[in-house]
Amino acid sequence: MDIFIAGTDTSAATIVWTMVELIKNPEAMKKAQDEITEIAWGKENIEESDLPKLSYLKLVLKESFRLHPPAPLLIPRETTRACTINGYEIPAKTRILINARTIARDPFYWKDPDSFKPERFFYSSVDFRGHDYELIPFGIGRRSCPGINFSVLTVELALANLLHYFDWKLPHGITRDDVDMVEAVGLTVHKKTPLLLIATPRPR
Ligand code: HEM
Repeated sequence: MDIFIAGTDTSAATIVWTMVELIKNPEAMKKAQDEITEIAWGKENIEESDLPKLSYLKLVLKESFRLHPPAPLLIPRETTRACTINGYEIPAKTRILINARTIARDPFYWKDPDSFKPERFFYSSVDFRGHDYELIPFGIGRRSCPGINFSVLTVELALANLLHYFDWKLPHGITRDDVDMVEAVGLTVHKKTPLLLIATPRPR
């Protein structure tokens, strides 16, 4: 049950938020699809073995995790003993919430923090695997997400195939500025209103 609860909702939210960002940023969408065409032309499906070659898609996903960590406050935890952080005394058994979302948009660490720019990771070694504290969508340390490798593969595979199979457009009369970014309240943050897109099969 833990695996179903922790794994499905988070991965689904990531796929939707990434599609939202791609539809609002057509240059990034084009780059991601061009890369897919290059490595997968003539192939029916993108397979797991193709994923290491999709380097731009990996930047897109990183940027999506930065702007939309599906669990923005991670999971509430409790301190096992008293400690002092930046001069603040935290007693034992204090409920701790870590605001990963705000950290990932902190202008001290991120230039133009609210913009979707996968290219920012071209020359940066910052990753989301828990070593760089400015980007922690999976948490840090021994209680961080044990599903990280599985989920990144699953999400990459789903996104790659969505972009391989279809071109995506907004419905007639809707512009990308009309697509709202309002979030539903919850431990896992989803888009409040469903994303409605038109899929046209791509030549493969
Ligand atoms: C995009 C996908 C996912 C994201 C962003 C994500 C994120 C997280 C985060 C932030 C935590 C809490 C870490 C902390 O408190 O420091 C967590 C915990 C956990 N995740 Fe994930 N997760 C994802 C997918 C998955 C998948 C696919 C599985 C299982 C197959 C999974 C299983 C778990 C479990 C069991 C925990 C609890 C670990 C513990 O309390 O020790 N997650 N996840």
